[in-house]
Amino acid sequence: MTHPDSHATAPVVIVGAGGHGRVVADIFLAAGRAVAGFLDDRVVGPVSGLPVLGPFARALDPGFGRGRALIVALGDTTRRVDLSQAVLRAGAGLATAIHPFAILAGGTQIGAGSTVAAAAVIGTGATVGRFCIVNTAAVVDHDCALGDGVFLGPGVRLCGGVVVGAGAFIGAGAIVLPGVRIAADARVRAGALVDVDFGIG
Ligand SMILES: CC(C)(COP(=O)(O)OP(=O)(O)OC[C@H]1O[C@@H](n2cnc3c(N)ncnc32)[C@H](O)[C@@H]1OP(=O)(O)O)[C@@H](O)C(=O)NCCC(=O)NCCS
Repeated sequence: MTHPDSHATAPVVIVGAGGHGRVVADIFLAAGRAVAGFLDDRVVGPVSGLPVLGPFARALDPGFGRGRALIVALGDTTRRVDLSQAVLRAGAGLATAIHPFAILAGGTQIGAGSTVAAAAVIGTGATVGRFCIVNTAAVVDHDCALGDGVFLGPGVRLCGGVVVGAGAFIGAGAIVLPGVRIAADARVRAGALVDVDFGIG
């Protein structure tokens, strides 16, 4: 199995040096990818043994992204999506973080700027949009479709054919039954059992 982005070689800059940023750094290091460091407004390095190269705004400096790939590692969905889109507009490339111990069915599509953490499983025919977070041990079973900016907490289980609208947040350990649709920007409680469409007009 070949992970998407696994042939990329440009050193990665991780935008956000908090808890999720360190998770993303660990993913790239586990995958053997060079990490140049972090950008963060408040955190002073080193973090996970890596330097903090400057504030968030540096991600948008002309030329900063040249020869590098950036990934926005902020848990807050609005900030993650907005900053990722600004990075793209500034002409930089987005990295995709896929842990080598995630399991992805052949041909799985993962959008640029997304993160798939350790022990996550993505089934055949599933698609994951851009700027998503599929957290530790989350399951996205066959034929699910996740829009841009979706957040799945640790241990979420999406059964086959679940459709999740852009920007939706699904809390840790929630279970979504087959074929259920979750609306864009919806918030599903941690531990919820979702057996009917959620937030769909
Ligand atoms: C759904 C959620 C966003 C609601 O947050 P909130 O609007 O701030 O709600 P509150 O914390 O004020 O709780 C309101 C009530 O709902 C209850 N409640 C909140 N979340 C609950 C959950 N997941 N399951 C059951 N009850 C819950 C609270 O106990 C509280 O009950 P009370 O009024 O009887 O005291 C939040 O509880 C949640 O589930 N977040 C997900 C966290 C997560 O998985 N993060 C991933 C990190 S990697």
